[in-house]
Amino acid sequence: MADKATLSYEGSSIDLDVVIGSENEVGIDITRLRGATGMITLDPGYANTGSCTSDITFIDGEKGILRYRGYPIEELAEKSSFMETAFLVLYGHLPNEKELADFENDISEEAYLHYGMKSHFEGFPDNAPPMAVLSAMLNILSCYNTELLTTATEGPKFTEPAAKIISKVRAIAAWAYRTSIGKPFMPPRPDLGYSGNFLHMMFSQQFKLYEPLPEVERALDLFLILHADHEQNCSTSTVRMVGSSHASLFSAVSAGVGALWGPLHGGANCEVIRMLTGIHEHGIKPRDFVEKAKDKNSPEKLMGFGHRVYKSFDPRARILKGQVDAVLKALNISDPLLDIAYELEEMARSEDYFIERNLYPNVDFYSGILLRAIGIPVNMFTVLFAIGRMPGWIANWREMHEQSLRISRPRQIYTGATKRSYIPLGER
Ligand code: SDX
Repeated sequence: MADKATLSYEGSSIDLDVVIGSENEVGIDITRLRGATGMITLDPGYANTGSCTSDITFIDGEKGILRYRGYPIEELAEKSSFMETAFLVLYGHLPNEKELADFENDISEEAYLHYGMKSHFEGFPDNAPPMAVLSAMLNILSCYNTELLTTATEGPKFTEPAAKIISKVRAIAAWAYRTSIGKPFMPPRPDLGYSGNFLHMMFSQQFKLYEPLPEVERALDLFLILHADHEQNCSTSTVRMVGSSHASLFSAVSAGVGALWGPLHGGANCEVIRMLTGIHEHGIKPRDFVEKAKDKNSPEKLMGFGHRVYKSFDPRARILKGQVDAVLKALNISDPLLDIAYELEEMARSEDYFIERNLYPNVDFYSGILLRAIGIPVNMFTVLFAIGRMPGWIANWREMHEQSLRISRPRQIYTGATKRSYIPLGER
């Protein structure tokens, strides 16, 4: 493949380097463009713009391929654990037994929150949005770790904040939930794994410990594996953007939570359940809803459908769809929302509107039904997404600093008023 691309404009041309990735993706390197021509490129929404090279995650949207550090998501979903996958995403290789044991031990030792954080939780109103609490408390966590506010990518100055954030994000989430329902914080148990401890902190009562069914604990672990990273999505790009100013890892992931909250991004998993519940409770025919979702004048979208990169089935949606069945059977429950989801998917897959636009179920379409089945309240769904995405955010923050990338500072094309003089107030 050619290693140069030529750009011609108004009689002059420039040869630009071409970067070819390990999966033969081709990128035109425009780092010299403005200096050599005075011109910039324009790409609102960055659909055609790569912000970096990365070794962490590979997605082929046309083929529905997702790999973390080269390992197919299907294999990790079937054979790995969230702790093992988190290590892989962070450090680039599957851990050996000692590495995994040490990593899990570091996470387990960091499970508690500083008691001083209690008063902050009590300051939130009961109806505080959990994602707002999560974002705020991640920054407050940095106040108790000021010696770790660095851009270190190696050694304890990196491994400690990484372990603290991955571990403590569970207690922050569970404490936010319990405070909102007027229940005291439930301290973590040293005998439980990552996902089981989160469920314990969420649901155990003072005199009745919550003991999750193995299928439930496994389902949550799988959910977290599937959310661990997804290359340069909106929230990961936000983490990189904030981190590029050399702000701390804590503030970068706090910003990532803010970006993930949006209903077009991680917030979609709540919106899917609200959509399915609305259809169910108001007796709306799925066919009528699909028609509304196609109508440009209707505010309705088929939430959980469509993706900027996947133009075929999101492999995570396929895995989650299978897992939902297994969990509902293990819990011996049925969920009418699942039947509606199946019907909507069936319809959308045969509709020209969705086919022409390559709109398929994404990770959020079935994930909410899974979380509902294991008892997670809807307003906590996107918090669970953030817990899963923490290793990916941290790995991207680390990679950016390892590459010593410059501060992110995009340019623009100005289209506002040209120069004009000030007009005194009385003369306007
Ligand atoms: C996540 O980037 C990632 O990797 C994200 C993520 C991750 O792991 O980090 O995968 C997680 O955010 C998944 C996406 C969750 N969001 C939703 O499910 C919300 C519903 N989906 C859409 O809002 C939309 O599909 C996006 C936001 C996901 C993608 O937006 P794009 O790429 O900007 O596409 P678009 O909005 O320009 O849509 C293209 C066309 C439009 O119609 P036309 O103007 O061409 O006629 O498709 C239509 C859109 O109106 N369309 C939809 C639709 N999604 C797109 N129509 C109805 N229902 C939908 N869901």
